[in-house]
Amino acid sequence: MTDVIVVGSGIAGLTAALHAAERGCHVTVVTKGALADTNTRWAQGGIAAVTATDDTVASHVADTVTAGVGLNDSAAVQTLVSEGPDRIAELVRRGVAFDRAADGDFARGLEAAHARPRVLHAGGDATGAAIQAALGAAVRSAGIEMREHTTVRDLMVAGGRVVGVEVETDGVRRRLTADAVILATGGAGQLYSHTTNPVSATGDGIAAALRAGAAVADLEFVQFHPTALAIGDTFLVSEAVRGDGATLIDDDGRRFAFDAHPDGELAPRDVVARANARAMAAQGGRPVRLDATGLGAERLARRFPTIDAAVRARGLDWSREPIPVTPAAHYLMGGVVTDLDGRTTVPGLYAVGETARTGVHGANRLASNSLLEGAVFGARAGEAAATDTAWPRVEAPAAIALPLVPAAADAPAFSRARLQELMWRHAGLVRHDAGLRHAVGILAAWVADARPRSAEDAGLLLLSQHVVAAALARTDSIGAHFRSDDGDPAVASLPATEALAC
Ligand code: SIN
Repeated sequence: MTDVIVVGSGIAGLTAALHAAERGCHVTVVTKGALADTNTRWAQGGIAAVTATDDTVASHVADTVTAGVGLNDSAAVQTLVSEGPDRIAELVRRGVAFDRAADGDFARGLEAAHARPRVLHAGGDATGAAIQAALGAAVRSAGIEMREHTTVRDLMVAGGRVVGVEVETDGVRRRLTADAVILATGGAGQLYSHTTNPVSATGDGIAAALRAGAAVADLEFVQFHPTALAIGDTFLVSEAVRGDGATLIDDDGRRFAFDAHPDGELAPRDVVARANARAMAAQGGRPVRLDATGLGAERLARRFPTIDAAVRARGLDWSREPIPVTPAAHYLMGGVVTDLDGRTTVPGLYAVGETARTGVHGANRLASNSLLEGAVFGARAGEAAATDTAWPRVEAPAAIALPLVPAAADAPAFSRARLQELMWRHAGLVRHDAGLRHAVGILAAWVADARPRSAEDAGLLLLSQHVVAAALARTDSIGAHFRSDDGDPAVASLPATEALAC
């Protein structure tokens, strides 16, 4: 029997686990928190797929490629979109109750850069939570072994092949051997001081893959969501709210998004995020505001119950007044290079979901394609792990070497908060050469400092070096990677914690 270890328990990991188990594998899911402590659980907007009779694969493909500015891998996009409907049917079979319209058909939301409403949702804006609950129940009833609160310290590599993982539970280390290891640890929003991601999103899988010698790519492409609540802890306000008609206004009450793009608030996410940043810069860094008053209290509470509760918990009534919003780090388009079945460049090692880089998103991910990515490529990787008998060559873009810059002599002592602030300021929404080079020097100083740090922090530090190197290497602006070497005002516009700045 094939032994498969899946690291991570969001939609990509649990889908991979279920498919491998249904193919007769012995599957163990390892996750550093509780089963449901995932990025998936926080997904609000929904899952994009072609499910309407008047929608087409060609249209969803075109929207995905337009958002990705054509840098997408076309086979990956075709796979994502054409297999989407089957994965939606699978989720329904596993118990996800997507919201329905009065005629019983799926209710479909509109989100930015989609040509038509095609985003399925559940519980209004609790889509991720509904998927997490259904898949969690499915893995438990499939008898899949679960190791919760267990951290993967490293991948075990022997003879150029991944042969298991070294894990730690309650301070006790163990080695778990496997025929295949599937990394599904999500993204790395915790690289930044402002993120919509939970604290668990520390890029552990990408860092472990890097240490095992796997190829990575596209790490310069970090997506910043345009609308996180700018009051209290960072909290996502779904794109679906703008899809429903909410607008963005500045201090003068002016809608500014049309200055940046003819689609205004429904332009691709990177465009709207930068438009927000520039409007903030023009008004002294104060957040812009999302005006959802036209939707009415009843609709806001029914369609967006999670956001409604978060907004009200901050003492705001968004049915009566616009709410302050700001961009925040949201999604990593780059990651561990894989083929369309999740195989990485290291035999025995697979990666899926936000951890992976299939090339499907190009330079910028289309809204609500991420849950779909987890479902489609998770299923494919689970199948491949169960059936692979040989390891085909996996092509990877040319590797980007870490720049050889001397360690900064004046670097402050390392802390997670300082790392996040450094990345926010110099490798965030807008980058420039001098800032990136400054970041390289500080990161080098922190790496050279041999004081012990947590596995998560070591991984974040390693990943930061690769993100900054990739951002330095791509000197043009495209999609989510925006260079402004002549001093775009948006560079200085976003909130930063002055005391920590470096
Ligand atoms: C959102 O609801 O705006 C986020 C969904 C996504 O990241 O695609």
